[in-house]
Amino acid sequence: SPDITSICKDAFAGINKIEEAVRSRKCCPPSLGKTIKPFVFPTENTVRMRWPAHAGTQKQVDDYRRAIQAMRDLPDDHPHSFVSQAKIHCAYCNGGYTQVESGFPDIDIQIHNSWLFFPFHRWYLYFYERILGKLINEPSFALPFWKWDEPAGMPLPDIFVPKDVNGKPNSLYDVYRDTGHLSPTMVDLSYSNGKEKGLSNQTQLACNLATVYRDLVRNGGDTVSFFGGKYVAGNAPVKNGAKSVGSVESGSHTAVHRWVGDSNQPNGEDMGNFYSAGYDPVFYCHHANVDRTWKLWKDLDIPGHVEPTDPDWLDASYVFYDENEDLVRVYNKDCVDIGKLKYGFIENSKEVFPWRKSRP
Ligand code: C2O
Repeated sequence: SPDITSICKDAFAGINKIEEAVRSRKCCPPSLGKTIKPFVFPTENTVRMRWPAHAGTQKQVDDYRRAIQAMRDLPDDHPHSFVSQAKIHCAYCNGGYTQVESGFPDIDIQIHNSWLFFPFHRWYLYFYERILGKLINEPSFALPFWKWDEPAGMPLPDIFVPKDVNGKPNSLYDVYRDTGHLSPTMVDLSYSNGKEKGLSNQTQLACNLATVYRDLVRNGGDTVSFFGGKYVAGNAPVKNGAKSVGSVESGSHTAVHRWVGDSNQPNGEDMGNFYSAGYDPVFYCHHANVDRTWKLWKDLDIPGHVEPTDPDWLDASYVFYDENEDLVRVYNKDCVDIGKLKYGFIENSKEVFPWRKSRP
């Protein structure tokens, strides 16, 4: 297969005010001249336990801040750099790649708005987490998840503030965020661009629980409605708003992106546009929770809550730089069982599904 860098081009798709883009549209990964290796499952005994971002221990928060700082300190052209990691999202989502490997060089790849959404982001975070752990030499390093499905976790987590308690700049801060949406304002899980509902915290909280119920139960009752529609080589990119978008993707997932991004920036940077979202550390924390909704959905034990079994889904693949700077090809079928990927989520046993009784 061709070098992934040589089949990549500048991003353009989905960036409305392209001349004013505040982030680079040069999203191609650095070329180290490596050949693509097959993926090998992790063999270590440690399971990385992802933690709720609003309730981290001092060590969890310190490790996370140190690891992101270490990532920021790498030269941009290093595959583990903060910028290279952010660009992965841009390349896969804003027309950076074509489907040349599958024989469709004129059609762009888009991993959103279809059944590629959950597995692509699972793999993206898998490597991101392992890279961060390696940078600070902490084999049990785990990402935080923004637990917006539980009342205490609904505001933007405090770990993302501009400065830490000692007044030192915080590596988790990003300047391109909506300043009207900082803690203690509750996230609006059904936010659409620029529309402030002005609800009391109590009402917003109830609406959010209803939205989670809608995304995980009422609108996500079977494989297609939860994962999104079929998308295979030769298909044109599916547009946002299409019928085939999965319930979480089109619902709470997109609402949070738009709510965090700065609506005063030309393209809602950073979180409000695919090409820039990866520049905000909140992105990975939000997606850790989106990834968790896949597990929660499965654990609900409702008939119909099953992953796709179509070979076109199982055999769809992506290429990432792993924590050893090797290029590896990974398949959807290998990310279904997170036990095999050696990570999990710390859950609060007292309040597992606060939204369970929130039928709208
Ligand atoms: Cu790839 Cu939340 O978007």
